[in-house]
Amino acid sequence: MIASLRGSARERSSFQAVVRENHTALHGGSVQAPGLNLTCNRLSGLRFHRNLSLGSYLRAVRNSPVKSQITTVRKLFPYLFGKIERSVPEICEFDSLKNYEMNYRRLAQLLGGCERVPPPGEIEFLRSIQNRGAHPGTIGLKEFLFLTAFVSIIAPQRAIEIGTLAGFSAAVIAAALHRRHPDRNGIFVDTIDRNTHSVVDANKPVGFQIPDIIPHLPGAVRVHAPADSSIVRELAGRDELELVFIDADHQHPRPLLDLLRIAPHIQCGGWILLHDITLGSKGVAAKKRFGAEWLFAEWPFGKIISANIGAVQMPAEKTAIIPMALRLMELPFEMSVASHRKIRHALYGNLAELL
Ligand SMILES: C[S@@+](CC[C@H](N)C(=O)[O-])C[C@H]1O[C@@H](n2cnc3c(N)ncnc32)[C@H](O)[C@@H]1O
Repeated sequence: MIASLRGSARERSSFQAVVRENHTALHGGSVQAPGLNLTCNRLSGLRFHRNLSLGSYLRAVRNSPVKSQITTVRKLFPYLFGKIERSVPEICEFDSLKNYEMNYRRLAQLLGGCERVPPPGEIEFLRSIQNRGAHPGTIGLKEFLFLTAFVSIIAPQRAIEIGTLAGFSAAVIAAALHRRHPDRNGIFVDTIDRNTHSVVDANKPVGFQIPDIIPHLPGAVRVHAPADSSIVRELAGRDELELVFIDADHQHPRPLLDLLRIAPHIQCGGWILLHDITLGSKGVAAKKRFGAEWLFAEWPFGKIISANIGAVQMPAEKTAIIPMALRLMELPFEMSVASHRKIRHALYGNLAELL
């Protein structure tokens, strides 16, 4: 499985070196994904001290598709005896364009242990888009600096995004990938949106900003709308992707569902970027966790945060994310009650695909 971590891209050699060093690290019985050295604390825990409660286990068995029930019983059983693990995120703030290169080096170290520098043209491109009138709802400067650096360092052949809106972040990702693979033509980003038109301006089709931002890369972004994360299975093979960006419906457990639908297609050691991970606790109104923040906070494996955007790393053993997912499913759902049953059904169905 670890071998599949090692994408062919030559730019990834440093990352791969750390993969080799770290992939044997075990944390509390679950296999830790390579890449980061994490600070994992066992929760001496009061309420949820077990990694998987008996109630969650039985509900998972009962709700899994009939053909997966025996596998669910067998594969989840050992998690009943493990304790919850927590991981502390690495912090890597991208505060300004002026400090981009310095922050880039730090992120490259976190991801690969080796110094990397931005490719030619990256800072100029970022400068050119920093003052563009942003469509409301798109990621801000600090976030697209982090996103660009992350994509540029990992440098996969392609990426998938859930949540297109104007297409700003999709274009930013495509531009970063093109700088790393300048000789490659074709699609760099598949971006998926539930709506055909912007939720902010109904006169504008989703992705309308893409040709303005990357006029030199026609066809680099393919927009799928209306669609949702369930089409990822048609767009990517198993264990194929190295990087996905989730920025769609933020209401818990929607980001979890998006992640679970992607999980079979992400390589072990691959990364899922999540936007708005402090929307609740830092937001003016709520002051409590909301949406993707739950997912990021509970993720027990490698993770990196830069203010309101972060990245979580797929562990070497994908079933290890199931206890966390089942715990998150015990929290109150944030969307309308009418959709709970359907979402719960989809969550259980997708969990079974990880077994
Ligand atoms: C915050 S915006 C995305 C912004 C974009 N990533 C950017 O920064 O340029 C969220 C988008 O997700 C879409 N969306 C909401 N729920 C979705 C779902 N379940 N599946 C796919 N897209 C969804 C909305 O239509 C909206 O366009």
